[in-house]
Amino acid sequence: MSTPKKFQRTLVTSALPYANGEIHLGHLAGAYLPADIFVRFLRMQGRDVLYICGSDEYGVPITLTAEKEGISPKELVDRNYASIKKSFEGFGMSFDNFSQTSREIHTETSQSFFMDLHDQGLLKQKTTEQFFSPSQNRFLADRYIEGTCPKCDTAGARGDQCEKCGSSLDPTELIDPHNVLDNSPLELRETTHWFLPLAEWQPRLEKYSADHPEWKENVRNYCGSWFKDTLADRAATRDLGWGVPVPLPDHEGKVFYVWFEAPIGYISSTREWAADQGDPEAWRKWWQDPDTRLVHFIGKDNIFFHALMFPAMLMAHTEDYIVADNVPANEFLNLEGQKLSTSRNFAVWLPEYLEKFSADPLRYTLARNLPETRDMNFTWEGFLARNNNELGNNFGNLINRVFTFIHKYFEGRVPEWSEAMMTDLDRQALADVQADLEKYSAHMEKFEIKAAMEACFHAGQAGNRYFDESAPFKTRKTDLVRCGHSLGVIVQILRMLCLMLAPVVPFGMEKVWSWLGAETSLWQGGWDEGVKDIPAGRQLGKQEILFPRFEEEQIQAEIDRLKGLLAE
Ligand code: 2FM
Ligand code: ZN
Repeated sequence: MSTPKKFQRTLVTSALPYANGEIHLGHLAGAYLPADIFVRFLRMQGRDVLYICGSDEYGVPITLTAEKEGISPKELVDRNYASIKKSFEGFGMSFDNFSQTSREIHTETSQSFFMDLHDQGLLKQKTTEQFFSPSQNRFLADRYIEGTCPKCDTAGARGDQCEKCGSSLDPTELIDPHNVLDNSPLELRETTHWFLPLAEWQPRLEKYSADHPEWKENVRNYCGSWFKDTLADRAATRDLGWGVPVPLPDHEGKVFYVWFEAPIGYISSTREWAADQGDPEAWRKWWQDPDTRLVHFIGKDNIFFHALMFPAMLMAHTEDYIVADNVPANEFLNLEGQKLSTSRNFAVWLPEYLEKFSADPLRYTLARNLPETRDMNFTWEGFLARNNNELGNNFGNLINRVFTFIHKYFEGRVPEWSEAMMTDLDRQALADVQADLEKYSAHMEKFEIKAAMEACFHAGQAGNRYFDESAPFKTRKTDLVRCGHSLGVIVQILRMLCLMLAPVVPFGMEKVWSWLGAETSLWQGGWDEGVKDIPAGRQLGKQEILFPRFEEEQIQAEIDRLKGLLAE
């Protein structure tokens, strides 16, 4: 299978993470790991792909954190950007560009995007009443407002939600609304903003959605439920001190609403990439050529913005932008059977994880457990089992045994193996793994990464079975030619396993690829070489342990840490 014929290249994006904290396992399983696996699979096949991301740096939560820490929002986002970038690198995320929405190129890009819609008269201006803080001389966003909940009478309810009774609120419903930061009283004042009248694009959006019956069920269901009603106007601007300024006269203090400007960040990041390549116009090919396939990887909470709002914005622009061909959205990942909670710090944070463990075992465990169609659960015990039983026993041991054997008895060269010597057992094993490789590719094309990993695991089992049944450890003493032939066959199985595992455990498989003596770069079309026989006589590299075992104590410490958090 290949990219659906009409496309020549694929532009992949992962949701821009908020620069308001670190990355945790829930993020990884949602929008990041699946995208990275998909992109690596395409690169391996030599297909033209660009992988774009960056951090989402505006919005109220960022200003709140910065104010709490007594630093500027820019200082906060720069610090978090650096940290997120570093831990993504440690985890093996292979973005072609990872930008920041607080950079100049994004200001330019989003302002000119806005002006294009504005100048066509597509945006609608509306005046509403919002809370204004006389003490700070500014309008306050919902999160800065607290008061008494009108539903349960509890003090300290936030402008958007009451934590006590769970009601979602409008700040105007609060009794005694006041400023969270200095407790001062608030007053309602009129303010005027720009809105995106999504209803005007509704017929096109409905057709767009209907034209993609292949989208995941969760995405289609969400879209379907929004189309039951007329789509509401969506704010494009806000009164806030931290954001991209609205580039119109008399708009002092007004910035773009984050959800208007953040998706444009994908375009800004692509432009930044193009400029870095020394070809500033190269971004157009990726966003404006209908031969490009655009794919947004996101978590389910972002479906509205990627399947409706951003496509509407792209359709509205006077230049011909492409829209997403697919929006593979994942459900959520739970932790030890509980919902992740960043406010209670009930999460596994990537930087801490990377201080203790390497990336591959986590990538593998998450890939086997992706919340593709329903919420899934991560447990440390499961992590231990995936590492020790699957990575270690199923794959690592097989690879290790084969290389050890060949180095010990065949001077590290692929032994003579040939068609003439093939038995039914040999043929069956090769055919089984070949069939798994084909299943694997077909699933990958459809973003069914978990199913692809099933096929890969199955191929590992077939490889082990073949090793046991062809028994080179016995034939070594009775029939060295037969022994060599079996090992030659297993080397072919290993090269196919290496292809299947590479996108998921790239650190380990880059090593195996080099031990196999491959000549091409794995990520630049290595697939073509990997599907061809490795000839007898080739010198193999010296192996080392790929996936060390974890001990119970190591894992228990992590479980205890989470239990402690829950007890608090
Ligand atoms: O939900 C989030 O983490 C958002 N920061 C995603 C933004 S995606 C895109 F629109 F930028
Ligand atoms: Zn309440």
